[in-house]
Amino acid sequence: MNQNVKRLYQIAQKKSRNIIGLMSGTSLDGLDVALCNISGHGNNTTVKVEKFITWPYARGYREKLLEIISKKNVDLENLCLLHELTGLLHGDIINKCLKKWKTDALHVDLIASHGQTIYHAPRHLHKQKDLPNATLQIGDADHIAVQTGIITLSDFRQKHIAAGGEGAPLAAYGDLLLFKESDRDVFLLNIGGIANFTFIPAKGNVLSTDTGPGNTLMDHWVQMNFTGFTYDDNAIIAKKGTIHDGLLHELKSHPFFSLPFPKTTGLELFNRTYLKNAISRTGKNKIPIYDVMATLNRFTAETIVQSVKKYIQLSHKPIMYVSGGGMHNPMLMDFIEKEISPVKMVSTTQKGIEPDAKEAVLFAVLANETVAGQPGLFAKHLKAMPAVSMGKISFPT
Ligand SMILES: Nc1ncnc2c1ncn2[C@@H]1O[C@H](COP(=O)(O)OP(=O)(O)O)[C@@H](O)[C@H]1O
Ligand SMILES: [Mg+2]
Repeated sequence: MNQNVKRLYQIAQKKSRNIIGLMSGTSLDGLDVALCNISGHGNNTTVKVEKFITWPYARGYREKLLEIISKKNVDLENLCLLHELTGLLHGDIINKCLKKWKTDALHVDLIASHGQTIYHAPRHLHKQKDLPNATLQIGDADHIAVQTGIITLSDFRQKHIAAGGEGAPLAAYGDLLLFKESDRDVFLLNIGGIANFTFIPAKGNVLSTDTGPGNTLMDHWVQMNFTGFTYDDNAIIAKKGTIHDGLLHELKSHPFFSLPFPKTTGLELFNRTYLKNAISRTGKNKIPIYDVMATLNRFTAETIVQSVKKYIQLSHKPIMYVSGGGMHNPMLMDFIEKEISPVKMVSTTQKGIEPDAKEAVLFAVLANETVAGQPGLFAKHLKAMPAVSMGKISFPT
């Protein structure tokens, strides 16, 4: 038997596995690396996050990514090189993390790598009826496996599409296994570049959907207008502005917001052009930059609130766990909290998972299921979503 297959077989039989989850979202702030100890699988999954870090990306690499991300026309050679470069970089970051954590690669059973999304095109975006939902993540996992010596699972979204989904949001699977409660309904709100939530009723079907932009438009506005800054730290810029009602109306007028749930989106829609067009439709060329910032903050907040409110009305004793970088933005959080009151909003830390690590942890959980679980398990609660194992397997040798 191939030694890699033998090793995988042994890993699958273990009572608990050490899995590194990797996530690099649309914000391009860095690579989230979560070393998790995962016991059991399926409904008996428990996770202990042993180590976590967001390894920041160098500016030069981020700029290279920006040349291809969400662009309809790109330099194909550039894309090809970045596919390999991202795999190499992620492998190198893991090796550096292991060194920093004084952890031997032999201590790690698996790596679960999300990769970097460079294009997400569900049918409602590309509008070509005869063509499938599509998404593309780069960062080839063979590099990660070869560099680290650790079996690596990657490219989770393709199976979801192959089995009838949009390739996103995948959070519902891990959310269900880690956060379901028997006596109350649970919401999980993640505010990354794009915002999404999962609704897990104590009884009934799980729903998982994007709501629209999370931090992305706010980040872009800061990067366009405040040299040297990448995001509105603690909303200090937005707090100095006044909400511009006309602009808010234009931002919210896109048909995406009237599409039925669940739905997914990305930077292909919510990008600088989207913002530029909305500003120009207000008929005002010069809206003060602080006011635009305040308005973008409110835009994210309102579109999240409108989406979750529909389900809050249907829910029983709900609680909301929040994660993602947006939860560090006080202006955003205050508005959402006030609007959904009396629903309690707490950080996922309450469940032992620090909010910035959550998405990376969820991919570790998906890998754990692929290696040791039963895909059919999901069929019961995730009616609208494919019940399949996700992820391709890369061997180190
Ligand atoms: N202290 C803070 N104040 C305001 N925004 C913050 C703060 N910390 C992080 N963020 C926001 O969170 C983003 C990163 O969120 P993250 O969950 O990593 O998104 P992604 O998954 O898209 O990478 C940053 O780009 C920034 O907009
Ligand atoms: Mg991030």
